[in-house]
Amino acid sequence: MNKVISLAAIIPAAGVGSRMGLNHPKQYLKIGDQTILEHTLDKLSKVDLIEHIYIAISDDDAYFDDLELPDNRVTRVSGGKERANSVLNALKAMKGSPPEWVLVHDAARPLVCINDIEKLITTCISADEGGILASKVKDTIKKGDIYSQETVPRDQLWQALTPQLFPYTALLNALDSALVDGALITDEASAMERAGQPVRLISGRSDNIKITTPEDHALVCFLMDQQQKSI
Ligand code: C5P
Repeated sequence: MNKVISLAAIIPAAGVGSRMGLNHPKQYLKIGDQTILEHTLDKLSKVDLIEHIYIAISDDDAYFDDLELPDNRVTRVSGGKERANSVLNALKAMKGSPPEWVLVHDAARPLVCINDIEKLITTCISADEGGILASKVKDTIKKGDIYSQETVPRDQLWQALTPQLFPYTALLNALDSALVDGALITDEASAMERAGQPVRLISGRSDNIKITTPEDHALVCFLMDQQQKSI
């Protein structure tokens, strides 16, 4: 990739993590010596193409300021009611000098591999189209409530991961209009799909798990240990 690009990252980290059953946001749980959020930041800080990182944190969060963040590329912005509001707040905070591209990555995915982030950036920027890391669904998928009504063919099903990378202006407009219309937006890609914008599916490692439940935390602690031993 020879083109010079400007790229900022957003980490939405303003959730309460209710499914973890904690009395503090889940990104402050420890994996080894560091919090989940510090591990995630560490990964993004190692990607040279990322010029600045905006972290959306709840205004009520009493923990963030106690972290020792070595990186002067980090700015705290106010989180919003839903994830999409948090990302939109971060995009608006960049309005003075917006980057061309924005990469959004969940605070709760500390296992992401730098190679996968670089693959996402290179592929999207060469194609001049947005995209997301995703992994092909491996399990047999059932549709139903109490009883299974059908088995859904999985050959075209992907599990959406993060990071997700999009042009700044297109993402700002797509999120803005989705929120105005009250649409259900669970990731940036869903806002872009709704706006008729391309979303490339770029295959990434399936162990880029989002920590949602206590079982996920235990698994990520184990996998992080393995990852660090293999560096
Ligand atoms: O709750 P869930 O794990 O799906 O949230 C995904 C990411 O979005 C987390 O990193 C969480 O902190 C963030 N989030 C946010 N603002 C909200 C809700 C969630 O930044 N209002």
